[in-house]
Amino acid sequence: MAMVTLSSFSASVVLTRGGQTGKSSRSFFFKPLLIFSSRFVTLKSTFATKMLASSTAFVKTKPDSISDAKEASTSKIILACPICYDQLISKGDPILSVDSAPRSSLQCSTCMKAYLGNDTHIDLTVASGAKEYGEAMPASTELFRSPLISFLYERGWRQSFSIWGGFPGPEKEFELIKEYLKPVLGGNIVDASCGSGLFSRLFAKSGLFSLVVALDFSENMLRQCYEFIKQEKSFPKENLILVRADIARLPFPSRSVDAVHAGAALHCWPSPSAAVAEISRVLRPGGFFVATTYIVDGPYAALPLLGPLRQSIGQISGSHIFLAERELEDLCNACGLVGFTSKRNRRFVMISATKPS
Ligand SMILES: C[S@@+](CC[C@H](N)C(=O)[O-])C[C@H]1O[C@@H](n2cnc3c(N)ncnc32)[C@H](O)[C@@H]1O
Repeated sequence: MAMVTLSSFSASVVLTRGGQTGKSSRSFFFKPLLIFSSRFVTLKSTFATKMLASSTAFVKTKPDSISDAKEASTSKIILACPICYDQLISKGDPILSVDSAPRSSLQCSTCMKAYLGNDTHIDLTVASGAKEYGEAMPASTELFRSPLISFLYERGWRQSFSIWGGFPGPEKEFELIKEYLKPVLGGNIVDASCGSGLFSRLFAKSGLFSLVVALDFSENMLRQCYEFIKQEKSFPKENLILVRADIARLPFPSRSVDAVHAGAALHCWPSPSAAVAEISRVLRPGGFFVATTYIVDGPYAALPLLGPLRQSIGQISGSHIFLAERELEDLCNACGLVGFTSKRNRRFVMISATKPS
C-alpha cells in the first residue's frame, strides 16, 4: 500500500511493502521512499496506477487492472547517475516517456555530469558524452551493437531460439513471466538487456506496470525498439522509456525497482556476477528478478573438456555457458537473492529469485 501526501510543489510517498519471497520449489516445464519534488525526474502514473484523490491533499494509490496483485507497489523509478547512483535532476522535459527522450536533459545532483537524450533514448552509460575515449566491450556485448544484428534480431534470430534451444516463444514466455511477477504487478519494471524491446513492448502494452524501462547497451537495438514502437498506432508511449546503460552499472538508486526481467541475456553479459549484484542492489525488498538463459547439461556436461572449453570460450567471446541450474542458483544466492526457482525445457531455463524483504 502506498500513502501519498501532496503539497503544491512536492510530494512524499511512504511505501509499506511486504513482498513475498520466491517459491522454493523446482518445477518442470510448462504445466501450465519515493520522495519526489517537481525538480526531480519522475515518471508519469499510467494505466496500472489509479490515483484515488480526495478533494484534500491526501491521495491513495491502488492498482487498477490487476486483481490478483498481493502487494503491488506504485513507485516510479527515479533515474540515477551511473557514476554516483544519486538522483538525476531534469533540466529539460521533467516527464520522461518514449516521446520526450529528445528533449531530455538530466544532471547528476552530486557530480553534476549531464546526460542527454537523443531521438530514441537517453544515454546513461558511464562514458556517455566522452569525446575521445572509447572502450570496446567483449564480443558478446559488441555483437548486438551492430545495425545488422539489431535489424535481424526480431526478424528470425530470436525465433531460432525456440528451434534449437527450447525457448517457448514470446507469448508463452510472457505468460510465465507474468505468473512470476504477480506479487509486484502495478509497480515498475526494468527490462534489462531488452534488445529491440520484444518484451518491453509487451510489458508496456499489458498495462500491468506503472512504468517500463527498456534498457540495453546497444544503441542500435534501442533504435530498432523505437522503430517498432513508431510503427504501432496507439502504442502506450507514456509508460515506457528507452535507456542505454551497462548491466553492470545500472542507473537507478538502490532499492528503487520492483522487478527486473532479463530475457535471453545472462549468457551475453561480460560478468554475470557483476550484473546480478547490480540487479540485487536496485531491487527493493520483495522485488523480483526473472530471467531466461541456456543451460548446457545432460550428456554434454559429463565431457571432461567442457569445463576448460567453457572458460576459453568465455574468455574469447565474453559469453557464459551455464552447465547446471545449481550454478544459476549459486549466482543468485551469492548476490543476495533468495527463493530461487527454475523451469526447464531442453537447453532453455527460466529462473526467478527475490530480494529478501
Ligand atoms: C540475445 S539479446 C536478448 C534480447 C531480449 N531480451 C530477448 O529476450 O530476446 C541479448 C542482449 O543483451 C545485451 N547486452 C549484452 N551485453 C550487455 C551489457 N553489458 N549491458 C547491457 N546489455 C547488454 C545485448 O545488447 C542484447 O540486446
